[in-house]
Amino acid sequence: MSRQRKLLELKELTEKALVGGGLKAIEKQHKKGKLTARERISLLLDPKSFEEVDALRTHECHEFGMEEKTYLGDGVVTGYGTIFGRLAFVYAFDFTVFGGSLSKTVGEKIAKIQDMAMKVGAPIIGINDSGGARIQEGVDSLAGYTNIFLRNVTASGVIPQLSAVVGPAAGGAVYSPALTDFVFMVKHSAYMFLTGPKIVKTVTHEDVTAEELGGARMHASKSGITHLTFDDEQSLFAAMREMFTYIPQNNMEEPPILESGDPIDRLDEELNYIIPENPGKPYDMRQVLKMVLDNGHFFEIQPLFAPNILIGFGRLNGKSVGIVANQPKHLAGVLDINSSVKGARFVRFCDAFNIPIITFEDVPGFMPGTVQEFGGVIRHGAKLLYAYAEATVPKLTVITRKAYGGAYCVMNSKQLRGDMIFSWPCAEIAVMGSEGATEIIFSREIRDAEKPKEKLHEKIEEYRERFANPYVAASKGFIDEVIEPRMTRYKLIKALEMLQNKRDENPPKKHGNIPL
Ligand code: HXC
Repeated sequence: MSRQRKLLELKELTEKALVGGGLKAIEKQHKKGKLTARERISLLLDPKSFEEVDALRTHECHEFGMEEKTYLGDGVVTGYGTIFGRLAFVYAFDFTVFGGSLSKTVGEKIAKIQDMAMKVGAPIIGINDSGGARIQEGVDSLAGYTNIFLRNVTASGVIPQLSAVVGPAAGGAVYSPALTDFVFMVKHSAYMFLTGPKIVKTVTHEDVTAEELGGARMHASKSGITHLTFDDEQSLFAAMREMFTYIPQNNMEEPPILESGDPIDRLDEELNYIIPENPGKPYDMRQVLKMVLDNGHFFEIQPLFAPNILIGFGRLNGKSVGIVANQPKHLAGVLDINSSVKGARFVRFCDAFNIPIITFEDVPGFMPGTVQEFGGVIRHGAKLLYAYAEATVPKLTVITRKAYGGAYCVMNSKQLRGDMIFSWPCAEIAVMGSEGATEIIFSREIRDAEKPKEKLHEKIEEYRERFANPYVAASKGFIDEVIEPRMTRYKLIKALEMLQNKRDENPPKKHGNIPL
């Protein structure tokens, strides 16, 4: 073959690989309102930065006449490129080839790219649109999945792993996203479930649609598996790119610093008045975060799941920080099963990837009741406690109002190695709320009083005077400084500067045993 012909052959193969399952299948994909694997990659990565790997691989199945149907690249597009100039690896299931199902070849292509990402210490993103295990390939497909899962687990805490779910993710296709750090899901065309509506009907006799069973809204609000949901794929990939600006390439690096232009001594007077005079009244913790963070920007994660706690990223003087904040607007900011799990997983992500954790605390305690106790609130609450206790990144707390009982201990207290604990003057730090405490410790006095109601109010006031303030805790050094609320931004930035070279570690061990 002449050199000219060889070059032509390469050109033809490359062009063939670019259309995956063919133009008709691409048209079908578009008609469903979905993008192709390559279109998705181009939205995720910087323009012209994508370098494909294994574009010419094909499946090796000879069952059911499969040898007659081969497509270059098989059911996944893999490679690397950049996001805002920083290296990232990507694999995108190609639904136009056997519904993006996972063959031995697809499994090997993904594992190869996972290994490369680990070797060079760069994040990896999986874009999921797949009918699950390639049915014709049987156990080879199951082995392929398991190889991916193993790599997801070994990479956990070493390189950031993100998942987009932009189509079906059925059966084996769900576990890789579930093992990654953050799951982004598009509304309407994406769903995740272990078994689809037909099998559900057979086994449990429930009538349920795919959307109800595993759509984005359900996973964002009920199961908590999805961290963010979007109306379309364009906004999903734009948000994913933004998330990368907050996180480092791997666990040995620091997150990027982006100059914000927001003065460190910007004092927001409104903060001094945001807490209502009546301690029983709610306020919006998001407003507090907006007034404190650079340019008022809070990249919120899991907004629809356990809204009584807020988590997300922001910047302080350009430096990336992870925020965990009780939200008094929902259930008075109480800690419960879901909010504990939500907070704990995020604290562990930040700790794994060198992102300082800032905690804004206003919490009346743990949610009482049979639903919570039967559901294991003790075990789940212990996860949050565990996560804060083991974290060694800089950890700052701002107590804006209530820090009661077990919740005081859990929410990054001084005793959990909180580096700097700030408190606003209206804070109430006590074993429990004034009403409950008074009824217990003064029960006899109140019962024996001539006017029990008046006595109760008198005792509540007495208790509040004595304990519902930050000064007892400050006198013991459990609070490092009581600050004017408007000073919060400045104080946090100064503390972060001071903690820049913080060194802290846990004793050597194989791994801890978090109460799962
Ligand atoms: C092989 C598959 C496939 C699969 C889809 N296709 N899923 N081929 N293995 N798992 C093929 C279809 O035959 C079809 O081929 C093409 O992909 C597009 O599929 P459609 O059904 O036309 O698309 P759509 O109507 O959008 O429906 C998508 C779907 C449906 C909902 C995903 O295809 C489906 O239900 N697939 C099976 C899902 C499933 O049960 N997977 C196994 C899960 S068990 P043609 O040639 O007609 O275009 C599992 C166990 C692993 O994964 C456990 C590991 C831990």
